[in-house]
Amino acid sequence: MSDTATLTPLVNEAFTAPNGPLIATGEIQVDTGTGTLETKPRASLCRCGASAKKPFCDGTHRTSGWADAGESVPAENIAELTATGPVVFVPLPNGPLLANGPLVLQNAQKQIINKTTQTALCRCGASANKPYCDGSHAAIGFQG
Ligand code: FES
Repeated sequence: MSDTATLTPLVNEAFTAPNGPLIATGEIQVDTGTGTLETKPRASLCRCGASAKKPFCDGTHRTSGWADAGESVPAENIAELTATGPVVFVPLPNGPLLANGPLVLQNAQKQIINKTTQTALCRCGASANKPYCDGSHAAIGFQG
């Protein structure tokens, strides 16, 4: 191997599984609400609001009747990411899941819908603008 060989930085990606969670891969850190960050290469994060293991998915979407095909339309202008490093997911109390750090967001067809370094993702299941939060969590009284 050459001394000049360079490692390609890991790209953080997340896609919306049809009627299911947000599946994130890469350099993933998750604030579990215990004061520590869990670091992992893959995380399955609740989007339906019904998981008993928030912010992680526990499979409840399969029986809760929640539905979202995850067919979000790509943003009009998608800027290239220059930042590297981990993306940190932080669930706000009774509110969205913040994604802080470089992240390539994809829909259920694995089509890139945005590239972001900070966004708020719906985890209550009620947003009309999934995968993003639109404030509906307050209207439905989301707890979690
Ligand atoms: S968390 Fe679902 S609309 Fe804000």
